[in-house]
Amino acid sequence: MKDKIILALDLTNVGEALNLADELRGGLSHIKIGHQLYAQGGMEFVTKIIQMGHKVFLDLKLHDIPNTVRMAVEELASHGLWALSIHSSGGRKMLEEARKAADNSGADIKLLAISVLTSFSQEVWQEVNPNSTIQEALLARAKVVMETGVHGMVCSPLDLPVVMPILQNKVMTVVPGVRLIKGGAKDDQERAATPGRAVSAGADYIVVGRPVLEAKDRFAAIEEIAEDMKRV
Ligand code: C5P
Repeated sequence: MKDKIILALDLTNVGEALNLADELRGGLSHIKIGHQLYAQGGMEFVTKIIQMGHKVFLDLKLHDIPNTVRMAVEELASHGLWALSIHSSGGRKMLEEARKAADNSGADIKLLAISVLTSFSQEVWQEVNPNSTIQEALLARAKVVMETGVHGMVCSPLDLPVVMPILQNKVMTVVPGVRLIKGGAKDDQERAATPGRAVSAGADYIVVGRPVLEAKDRFAAIEEIAEDMKRV
């Protein structure tokens, strides 16, 4: 089950992040690196984590005009990443250009399209997307992701029943917004569920950050998450 866990390495300091990644060697293979550590350590930091033997998901959520995203993917694909996120709201052409750039690179890199951020509630969503619901956006985005041949989609565990019929197990699902105690602290994650529930709803991978990073015993927290996934 630990092969299905991606640890969001959302620490504030590159040194601390390298230490934790080192301690996790042989225990947990997938690590997600976000904007803060990327800004601090750049590709040199990312490469160090890859050299430790980890599969790295660089979560930059690329969202720009197709040509700019294509150029970014061309560069990023040459560094040995396991996965890279792009934003499905960038539209069909952007997704196509990104996918072609990944294919042409010859690298074994997975492009993961963000669907709708797990921090959105319906109310907050409609403030900036006045004429659509989260569900409508999810359906439309899942369809475009499927049709453009992007490798994976990132969505909330609660969104899986909506997108799975469209993705038909041909697009892998990566699921953040995972919390151990149902109804417990969920920070800024509005659409959250337990690890077990996420896996039973079809998650290929779950992404977990604070439930591990803020735990008194991080390794025990990882075990607990894996146990919860096994129980289902
Ligand atoms: O700490 P927590 O478990 O909430 O971390 C979730 C991670 O997943 C964060 O790094 C966040 O950037 C990322 N993420 C997310 N929702 C998405 C895509 C990525 O929470 N839709």
